[in-house]
Amino acid sequence: MVSTKVKLCSLELDNPVIPASGTFGFGYEFAELYDINILGSISLKGTTAQPRFGNPTPRIAECPAGMINSVGLQNPGIDAVISQELPKLAECFSKPAIANISGFSVEEYVECCSKADKAEQIGILEVNVSCPNVHNGGMSFGTSPEAAAEITRAVKAVTTKPVFIKLTPNVTDIVSIAKACEEAGADGLSLINTMLGMRINLKTKKPVIANKMGGFSGSAIFPVALRMVYQVYEAVKIPIIGMGGVSSAQDVIEMMLAGATAVQIGAQNLVDPYACKNIIESLPGVMQEYSINNLEDIIGGAH
Ligand code: SIN
Repeated sequence: MVSTKVKLCSLELDNPVIPASGTFGFGYEFAELYDINILGSISLKGTTAQPRFGNPTPRIAECPAGMINSVGLQNPGIDAVISQELPKLAECFSKPAIANISGFSVEEYVECCSKADKAEQIGILEVNVSCPNVHNGGMSFGTSPEAAAEITRAVKAVTTKPVFIKLTPNVTDIVSIAKACEEAGADGLSLINTMLGMRINLKTKKPVIANKMGGFSGSAIFPVALRMVYQVYEAVKIPIIGMGGVSSAQDVIEMMLAGATAVQIGAQNLVDPYACKNIIESLPGVMQEYSINNLEDIIGGAH
């Protein structure tokens, strides 16, 4: 009998598989398809202080082995998430969830995180300093070690739950940003968010996406994500949630060997809404195939 359990800061997860923010709504939408309590946890839709309509359409471009999105942080705002979305999730999910928080100023991150921190259902705060689809916010905080550290310190000052900073791959040196977040008090890191990309429509000869560019995700980016998790694991002591093109139980194991304690599944949920279920169900068999008895033992095993 193999063990898929992992410990992520104070949380004991039945398995390391977590749907990534923005690909799984607020979780309850998927409860129509299967019992979502099989998931390790859920990273909820990215949330800001105020409700946001998001970017103009088209917001999606298909690519071989991936997709580009420019959603622009569409969400109902932190107060509605707490008063309306979390109660719906509570009806079908009994484990701690991950609040994914974005903002346009230090004050906004502080406001949202301190509210989410007080919600009983929230076990981890994932602070998104890496959204490539908004101006003067999101990724602009995650491309400088100083700005990422400032957000980390400010959020840590008003929260009690583990704070994971979600990093962008759209930088020259992700390790320096990871280290700055660790030094500023982050309890963990989530990486990677999407890679900035674009497509051009040959008929119109214009960008496919109204916002011109967006975040590229999907299995095509897996080797880049894996490389960054591997590099960051060598440089920090705090746990890593690895993500970026993870599509199978084999990919989960590879991510953990690179250094991830837990693994998020993103674009694959949009290809197949049963992706997380299928990965969780196939993990024990794949572990046996590679003589792995305890998933926790393999974290960072490739180093
Ligand atoms: C979005 O809403 O634009 C995607 C969120 C993100 O990439 O962080």
